[in-house]
Amino acid sequence: MQDLKGRVAVVTGGSRGIGRHIALQLAQRGADVAINYRSRQSDADEVIKEIEATGVRAMAIKADLSTMPAARGMIKKVHEDWGRIDILVNNAGITRDKSMRKLTDDDWNEVLDTNLGSVYATCSEVLNIMLEQKYGRIINITSFVGQAGNFGQANYAASKGGIIAFTKTLALEAAKHNITVNAIAPGFTETEMLAQVPENIREQIVARVPMGRFGQPEEIARAVVFLAAEGDYITGQQINVNGGVYM
Ligand SMILES: NC(=O)c1ccc[n+]([C@@H]2O[C@H](COP(=O)([O-])OP(=O)(O)OC[C@H]3O[C@@H](n4cnc5c(N)ncnc54)[C@H](OP(=O)(O)O)[C@@H]3O)[C@@H](O)[C@H]2O)c1
Repeated sequence: MQDLKGRVAVVTGGSRGIGRHIALQLAQRGADVAINYRSRQSDADEVIKEIEATGVRAMAIKADLSTMPAARGMIKKVHEDWGRIDILVNNAGITRDKSMRKLTDDDWNEVLDTNLGSVYATCSEVLNIMLEQKYGRIINITSFVGQAGNFGQANYAASKGGIIAFTKTLALEAAKHNITVNAIAPGFTETEMLAQVPENIREQIVARVPMGRFGQPEEIARAVVFLAAEGDYITGQQINVNGGVYM
């Protein structure tokens, strides 16, 4: 199905993990896809090849989104080159897990700047473009941790909770202009982010998941593509794709 043909999509952190699958599934539906990454160019190159193999245009932009000028610059670059941006998926994110007694100001700032500051900056920059087009689909990747909290993740939980509140507010402000803004809240999903967690803790985590397994990145991506392609009357929502770990 090529129902996104002619659409331009931007996926932050699209070089691996969940973002890679979002980028590939958007391309398979016909959208031209720009991916962003911070440092691992070989991963980005691989994804670019995979996107191009579907017959659409692909672009990779190296930018550290923890700084707002870089995040704004990435949006400007796609708009300058391709003339429009229809779909923005804010997926880039990091963890710096420590209990509050050990958490440093740097741990706090790095996670808030990367996970939440980047969402503000890209949305702020893309808003005028989408207003002019009278069309936009913004999908922000939060986490069930932003709803439930999680031991050792005060910084991450605050960033992800902030994304949910930000998403609802922007949805209200943009709704009249045919711009929808939604969030996807994954549960524990098998990517390098989860691989950082020690094996014994991973076993404890999976025991908490009612479906008895971790999510796969392609399962998260399917919900994103649903909102982008078929979510015309859905805005201000968060869709939980979490195997029941938070209800
Ligand atoms: N995995 C989970 O269990 C889980 C659960 C809930 C929510 N999430 C959320 O889902 C999203 C994707 O997670 P993931 O597990 O796929 O992560 P991942 O495998 O660690 O991939 C992270 C991606 O973000 C990019 N990135 C990181 N920092 C960046 C920065 N400062 N500027 C630009 N790009 C940056 C990375 O690029 P480089 O490779 O170049 O560094 C990479 O493409 C995140 O927002 C995460 O919080 C994940």
